[in-house]
Amino acid sequence: MKLRQNIQIAPSILSADFANLAAEIAKVEKAGADLIHLDVMDGRFVPNITIGPPVIASIRRITSLPLDAHLMIETPVRYIDDFVRAGINWLSVHVEADQHLDRTLRFLKDNGIRAGVALNPGTPLNLLDEVLPLADFILVMTVNPGFGGQSFLPSAIKKISRLRDFIVSNGYQARIEVDGGIGPGNLADVLSAGAEIIVAGSAIFSAGKDAAEAMREMKEIADQHVRSRERT
Ligand code: DX5
Ligand code: ZN
Repeated sequence: MKLRQNIQIAPSILSADFANLAAEIAKVEKAGADLIHLDVMDGRFVPNITIGPPVIASIRRITSLPLDAHLMIETPVRYIDDFVRAGINWLSVHVEADQHLDRTLRFLKDNGIRAGVALNPGTPLNLLDEVLPLADFILVMTVNPGFGGQSFLPSAIKKISRLRDFIVSNGYQARIEVDGGIGPGNLADVLSAGAEIIVAGSAIFSAGKDAAEAMREMKEIADQHVRSRERT
């Protein structure tokens, strides 16, 4: 049986105009975004500081798209309840930041949240061995986290396909999300490696760019990929 990739595009608002978030989100929602990726940074796990639960609660009121929170924070368990109450639908914590991943994933699932584990480029896949059966998705960082607009790390391609093979050979359900440096130029490569949920920040939101048009271009590349898969 042919494996059918269910591809979703998740614009990251990190590169959007924060003074016009509602309009920015409306544009990509209309252009076919599947979820909104929210980068939460604490200035400790990563060098940058971004948004937290109050901003996310406001975003919850202006879009019906699922909200995907990517927590780049130390000891995320301290705040997970707040994010759940803010209305997120998907949440990932970093394997490097959470000493109780099993407990965190179970908590998320018990609360009806899609539970994800994120890992940095320098972190080996084998740290996922015990939690993969529980995870709804794995977020493979394709840049070192902290900032938008960085270049994709080419070594990530092999990592994605090794993870995909491991998931398939064990019959796990986890899907693969990829994040960092992804745009029209390398989208087909990450899809071929096995990624299914594509985060894109600066490729969609940047000064002088039409976010809706950029969103549609990414969707079109994803559709082409699915069509070519179906032909082979
Ligand atoms: C980086 C964040 C990303 C970021 C991606 O640490 O996790 O989600 O917004 O931005 P681009 O697509 O510009 O690399
Ligand atoms: Zn992210």
